[in-house]
Amino acid sequence: MNRIIVTGGLGYIGSHTIVELKDSYDEFVIIDNLSNSEESVVERLRTLTKKSILHFNISINDELELDRIFQSITPKHVIHFAGLKSVKDSEEKPYEYFLTNVAGTASLLNSLSKHQCENFIFSSSATVYGEPKYLPYDENHPTIPINNYGRTKLAAEQLINQWATLNKVSSLSLRYFNPVGAHSSGMIGEKPVGVPNNLMPYILEVISGKLKCLKVFGDDYNTKDGTGERDYIHITDLARAHVAALNYSKSNRANDVINIGTGNSISVMEIIDTFKNSLSIKFEYDIVSRRPGDLPKYFAGTDKARKLLKWKAESTVLDMCRDSLNWQKHYNKL
Ligand code: WQD
Repeated sequence: MNRIIVTGGLGYIGSHTIVELKDSYDEFVIIDNLSNSEESVVERLRTLTKKSILHFNISINDELELDRIFQSITPKHVIHFAGLKSVKDSEEKPYEYFLTNVAGTASLLNSLSKHQCENFIFSSSATVYGEPKYLPYDENHPTIPINNYGRTKLAAEQLINQWATLNKVSSLSLRYFNPVGAHSSGMIGEKPVGVPNNLMPYILEVISGKLKCLKVFGDDYNTKDGTGERDYIHITDLARAHVAALNYSKSNRANDVINIGTGNSISVMEIIDTFKNSLSIKFEYDIVSRRPGDLPKYFAGTDKARKLLKWKAESTVLDMCRDSLNWQKHYNKL
């Protein structure tokens, strides 16, 4: 049976990656404790992939349970998404973030080292870079994270690098920029818990009427229109990058980090204007003061992804906004 282990596979990025891997595997073994996802995603993945989807509701910190699973299901190929991902929460709850994102990864790696793992893909983040010394960030940019979330991702990357060398596992850590959008079916997407911190989910809650007005955090940055600029990448492009990364990892003995972004930066106002001018969706927004810890602008150097993975992002900002809107229309019914 051609199968893959996906930790955090019921989450936003994990679920979209499983859909893009549907032609590569017969069975997807999801390890997900539902801390930021829903059980109902399992059935939706079965519908979207027409493949076998197994779900184990356990924490990656539970090494005994991991051993039990891997004794009967050899984890030859693994994608590790499970983790906490809020920058704001990571500043308020550092212990929880290091326990899950670092100690949890250590438990997973320790268990895998006993069960013939061959390929390991890790969900990392551009927040490992911190203040830009130059842009675009390339993979040689200094890694001096300015928040605990980024520190946990960097620590996990360093752990994986050592573990992969010692255990002769082919491994890639993918440094994501700003994932947005949803699968074109509207059946899976990002469903934030509580009031969203990130821009796109917040905009969707304003459009749905759940929240009154978008706060634009500053329009006095040295950027194209004064508002913050980010490298937004369509979630389906990001998911396809994982397919390319797995293919590369299977045919090369890898132990590397790769940026996954579009290589372009888009401002908050450009996102607002895309909804207004291209989708005829207008919503309330207020310009307020800058959010502490925000960087004015960052975006990805994409040469390495293009050269090594033969991958590049294809979707436009309009695709990202349109698919986000389509998901928002569906998820209230799910
Ligand atoms: C984007 C832009 C805000 C909300 C975070 C994490 C990063 C990654 C992606 C995991 C900024 C502005 C936002 C709002 C606004 N996650 N904004 N009003 O902070 O770039 O990155 O998510 O890897 O780790 O740090 O994303 O969506 O919060 O902000 O004006 O209500 O939108 O100032 O310019 P960010 P974001």
